[in-house]
Amino acid sequence: MADEPLVLGIETSCDETGVGIVRGTTLLADAVASSVNDHARFGGVVPEIASRAHLEAMVPTIQRALDTAGIKASDLDGIAVTAGPGLAGALLVGVSAAKAYAWALDKPLYGVNHLASHICVDQLEHGRLPSPTMALLVSGGHSSLLLSEDITTDVRPLGATIDDAAGEAFDKVARVLGLGFPGGPIVDRTAREGDRKAINFPRGLSGRNDPEYDFSFSGLKTAVARWVEAKRRAGEEVPIADVAASFQEAVTDVLTRKAVKACKDNGVDHLMIGGGVAANSRLREMAQQRCDRAGIRLRVPRPGLCTDNGAMVAALGSEMVWRDRAPSALDLSADSSLPVTDVHVPAAVIGHGDVHGQAYDALGGGAA
Ligand code: KG4
Ligand code: ZN
Repeated sequence: MADEPLVLGIETSCDETGVGIVRGTTLLADAVASSVNDHARFGGVVPEIASRAHLEAMVPTIQRALDTAGIKASDLDGIAVTAGPGLAGALLVGVSAAKAYAWALDKPLYGVNHLASHICVDQLEHGRLPSPTMALLVSGGHSSLLLSEDITTDVRPLGATIDDAAGEAFDKVARVLGLGFPGGPIVDRTAREGDRKAINFPRGLSGRNDPEYDFSFSGLKTAVARWVEAKRRAGEEVPIADVAASFQEAVTDVLTRKAVKACKDNGVDHLMIGGGVAANSRLREMAQQRCDRAGIRLRVPRPGLCTDNGAMVAALGSEMVWRDRAPSALDLSADSSLPVTDVHVPAAVIGHGDVHGQAYDALGGGAA
């Protein structure tokens, strides 16, 4: 195993151009350039705008991260990049940049999974993940319960949302309430002024015969929209803060209850929560209370490391180097629907020189 590998990570799966630099499990730099304001007037991320913004931000953000870390690119032991899942065009910008840097610097390239990175980032705050770790992954596109023995090789899904992701529900409810985009942070803030017991919104898939570890937030979203619509039709004022707090309570109740149950059922005494929704203050609070009661140790990164960033990619890349995992080939491609079980995208061809040689051969350069 290498000693405390120094790795740069690039994240471009959505609207954040993130570049992180990590040595072992120590964070040295976390530079983020966000195009979120360019999307706000459309009420959601516009893929083409995101791709262009990544292209413009890429080199300056990498430079900013190197400056902050006080290192030269030539000092790096590897370059990691999000290979998927995410927006295809956005991912391609990051993957292309990572390949170019890896090629030019003659460093190994690690194409990694965005979702596993959301889990691995916690190593920067709380040290190496125990084996096994239960992870509740809640982002704009995913809501899953994942069991992992080793975050560089194995992520086993126990359950996932059957419709909307938790973050998506936050964004849609924020739109119904006229709170703007992205919805999660605004609903979180608005809910602090509200009564979370004001409205008893439905808890999806919580019946006795429902799948234990799957989630559903589409019915909840519709229930909120109907409730608000009925108020408006009756000419009554909508108690925005109460709706936000009651909706948030329904989401966090289901997420934490199922996560704690998954830990207990599988004899796992550590729960990690990752992804953008893990920044939610009520989710963090309720998870802490329920984990304390169940004797489970809770690990949640600080909010800034829950939402998309480059540090999480660097964290997983560094772990890959530390555990001697095979690098990716330079013909690595972005996969917008990379399954959660594919933690990293290894070399396509094995046993034909070094990875750069393989890519060179693949490009018709030959072995000369
Ligand atoms: O992980 P992430 O940054 O990007 C994806 O991989 O999707 O997650 C983004 C999602 C968005 O839906 C956003 O509204 C939600 O995370 N989010 C939050 C909070 N901060 C971000 N949801 C609830 N409360 C928050 N404080
Ligand atoms: Zn994410």
